[in-house]
Amino acid sequence: MNTTFERDLEAKGFIDLDVDPTIDLVSEIAKLKKEKNAVILAHYYQESEIQDIADYIGDSLGLSQQAAKTDADVIVFAGVHFMAETAKILSPTKKVLLPDLKAGCSLSDSCPPHLFAKFKEQYPDHLVITYVNCTAELKALSDIVCTSSNAVQIVESLPIDQKIIFGPDRNLGAYVKKKTGRDLVLWNGACMVHEIFSQDKIDALREAYPEAKFIAHPECEDHILAKADYIGSTSGMLKFTIEDPSQTYIVATESGILHQMQKASPTKTFIPAPPNNLCACNDCPYMKLNTLEKLYNCLYYEQPEINLAEDVILRAQKPIERMLDISAQLGL
Ligand code: 13P
Ligand code: SF4
Repeated sequence: MNTTFERDLEAKGFIDLDVDPTIDLVSEIAKLKKEKNAVILAHYYQESEIQDIADYIGDSLGLSQQAAKTDADVIVFAGVHFMAETAKILSPTKKVLLPDLKAGCSLSDSCPPHLFAKFKEQYPDHLVITYVNCTAELKALSDIVCTSSNAVQIVESLPIDQKIIFGPDRNLGAYVKKKTGRDLVLWNGACMVHEIFSQDKIDALREAYPEAKFIAHPECEDHILAKADYIGSTSGMLKFTIEDPSQTYIVATESGILHQMQKASPTKTFIPAPPNNLCACNDCPYMKLNTLEKLYNCLYYEQPEINLAEDVILRAQKPIERMLDISAQLGL
């Protein structure tokens, strides 16, 4: 029989114990991190206060590279479930913690592994490339994993006549098809955050700010990408805004990235691209489930922990390591 603590954790997805409101969470987290030889890896879509205490902030490729090489005993993953799973697959002997187990991903959910396995059976002579935003089980069904910062290069690294299935993101897949000229078979999945942008509102903003550059993540729909001055992963977009001489940017991705953009270029103006609803924000509801309190509790109690079956780890390791090898060869 599970303890009340375990049952509660399973139902809620996080440790719902009150944190003493008088403690300084930032310094207590730093203390715990040292005591436990832990590292905090955070994605750019996390709340600013989480980004500010992270040991490493990055895009999915950078986070995978960090997870593979860290010598910490504990990895606290401030991101979503598939990212923490990737860290566990790359560092199976380490303890990998996720502040809220319910931090999932609509894109990952759009590709159930049992349906993908049936889809794959229809194309027996195709190689399977999956975007890292998917479950460990899906990675275990793949030949190579990719991220938004290396998807084009990974496809280009394969022989021209290689037949390829690409999943789960139809938008990134369509973008890669266009960039490489390859005829990829696409799974029909998408991210709810990147499909919410309003073309009309973006056009109106561009008219209001004619000097602004419009930058977009390749998870956005084709008609949005068609108008972008720059398309890239979160770290690609950040780098672009640092190196580009413009002063104003309209940014079509999750709004968390604006924190690092503003920090790196304090005199520039960053405007989140408007979504097709009445809310003014483009927040990922999953990324934003993590809070500083949950992160503190997770480090203190060393729960919730990511655990994966050994055979899934072994099968998912190969396609992720293949991606890391190709990226290292290409200097990505
Ligand atoms: P990148 O940070 O790798 O561009 O990924 C974006 C994303 O949607 C992660 O969930
Ligand atoms: Fe998934 Fe989209 Fe959220 Fe990224 S932004 S974690 S792809 S739902």
